Amino acid sequence: MSKILVTGGTGYIGSHTVVELHKAGYTPVIVDNLSNSNIQILDQIEKIIGVKPQFQEFDLCDVEKTAQFISENPDITGIIHFAASKAVGESVVDPLKYYHNNFFSLINLLNQYREKPINFVFSSSCTVYGEPDNLPVTESAPVKKSTSPYGNTKQIAEEILEETAKAYGNYNVVALRYFNPVGAHESALIGELPNGVPQNLLPFITQTAIGKREKLTVYGNDYDTPDGSCIRDYIHVVDLAKAHVAAIQLLEKGNPNGKYDVFNIGTGNGYSVLEAIAAFENASGQKLNYVVGPRRDGDVVQVWGDVSKAQKELGWDAKLGIDEMMSSAWKWEKYLQENPIA
Ligand code: UD1
Repeated sequence: MSKILVTGGTGYIGSHTVVELHKAGYTPVIVDNLSNSNIQILDQIEKIIGVKPQFQEFDLCDVEKTAQFISENPDITGIIHFAASKAVGESVVDPLKYYHNNFFSLINLLNQYREKPINFVFSSSCTVYGEPDNLPVTESAPVKKSTSPYGNTKQIAEEILEETAKAYGNYNVVALRYFNPVGAHESALIGELPNGVPQNLLPFITQTAIGKREKLTVYGNDYDTPDGSCIRDYIHVVDLAKAHVAAIQLLEKGNPNGKYDVFNIGTGNGYSVLEAIAAFENASGQKLNYVVGPRRDGDVVQVWGDVSKAQKELGWDAKLGIDEMMSSAWKWEKYLQENPIA
């Protein structure tokens, strides 16, 4: 079966995608510089799928190492490109790190595959919509000026990919615009491993419940939403991983929409922060210690996706609901307490 390069394949979404690719009959090959992931994740993946995936540790900004890797793996037919820096706050403090890492690696990969037909799936984000004018947001909604260098790298990378796919004949590209990935594999052997204090909601919730953090702060309850807290479209990471397999399959069949395409990947349902906390308490049986604090700068008030395009054209649909998202995230946090990965 086809060999698929998964860049950033030891990371949170990458590791779940490696598992789903293997289950679908593909041979995933991982390249990762381990800047925001742990080598032990390879053993964890092996415990789930029974084989250790091929892995090489290097930085995709490194032209020579990338060239050598490609010459040693001439049978790669597709790339799923996760490898990128992704902390919004850090990107504001150190924008050049984000522009360097996220663009050099992308452009290097594209350059090196100039002479070969290649299927390319890009890890994008609903952050490209900013605060949408209409909900649920569709793929044709305007891309708004980003509030962070991180978000800007996603917007510009989409443009780079669209122009590249149109200009040369050899790339077939799909960008997946993820909503808010949460949860963990049902085995609790892989999941999100935040670096330091989590900035995202779910790992902060589970770390608070297990006693690693004293309390969660809800960033504002005075927004113009039914309960005053912000609304997001949370998507189970296993469903998200399966969307990548569906995207590769679409590209292999030939995408009738052409050389470049984008899809929203969410559930289509919005949950407020307070509803997410209640869902966690319900799924875990744990009472969560939280307080309401001020709004966080740059937060979008509410966003959830119209996912009908992915349902129709990718033949993909999110199967797992908020209960599975919360219970799997909690199971993973408890696993980590017994089996630290550091
Ligand atoms: C954030 C990024 C987004 C990125 C995504 C990647 C911002 C503004 N956006 O999305 O660009 O693609 O992460 O995962 O940073 N919340 C709390 N308390 C907390 C943490 C979060 O109340 O301690 C709330 C937030 O205000 C938000 C919701 O939980 O309403 C989700 O937050 P988060 O998990 O950080 O995701 P986003 O802000 O949607």
